[in-house]
Amino acid sequence: MKIGILISGRGSNMVAIVEAVQSGQLPNSEVVVVISDKKSAEGLEKAKARGVETVVVARKQRSREEHDAEIIAELKRRGTELVCLAGYMRLLSGDFVAAFPNKIVNIHPSLLPAFPGLEAQRQAFDYGVKISGCTVHFVDEDLDHGAIILQKAVEVADTDTAETLSAKILEHEHALYIEALRIIVRKNYKIVGRKVFYD
Ligand code: GRF
Repeated sequence: MKIGILISGRGSNMVAIVEAVQSGQLPNSEVVVVISDKKSAEGLEKAKARGVETVVVARKQRSREEHDAEIIAELKRRGTELVCLAGYMRLLSGDFVAAFPNKIVNIHPSLLPAFPGLEAQRQAFDYGVKISGCTVHFVDEDLDHGAIILQKAVEVADTDTAETLSAKILEHEHALYIEALRIIVRKNYKIVGRKVFYD
C-alpha cells in the first residue's frame, strides 16, 4: 500500500510510520511522500534522513480548496492509496476527503470524542480527567470526528503536568498508529456507519 504522510511540525508519528515500514513491522507498504504545509517543519529533515521524498505545499493565502488541490495532485501523482495525517494542523476540505474516501487516517492525543481540537492533552489535564489517551480514526470533514479505529487509555497521575501527560500519551501514539495501519494494510476491516470492525 502506497502511503503519503502529511505533517506540519515535529514529525515523530511520521518517523514511527516510516521506520515501521522500513523495518518490515508494517509489511506490504511504502511511504511514497511526506508533505508539509510548513517549510519550517522539523519533520522534513527527519523524512529526508530516512530516504523519503518530501514536498512543501505552502498555503500562500490560497483558499482551503486551492491549497488542498495541490496536495491531492502531489499525492495522486505518486499513486498514494492511504493518507496518514501526523500532526497536520489544517482541517481538510470536502474535496480532499472525497478524493480519498475512507483512505485518510489521523491520530489525536485524547480519547475522542473528548477534547477534540488543539492542545487536547492540556484540555484533558485542565479538566481534571483521571484517564486520557489517544485515538486513531478515519478522517471526515469535521474536526477529529471520523470513525474510530483504535484507542489507547493512559492514566493521569497526581504528579503529572500537561507536559508529562503529553509525553506519556505520545509514547503510546506511535505504537497505536502502527497497529491501526497494520489493520488497514491487511484490508480485512469493514466500516459500518461509525463503527470499524476487524479481526
Ligand atoms: C501528536 O500529538 C498527534 O496526536 C497530534 O499532533 C501531534 C503531532 O506530533 N495530532 P508529531 O508531529 O507526530 O511528533
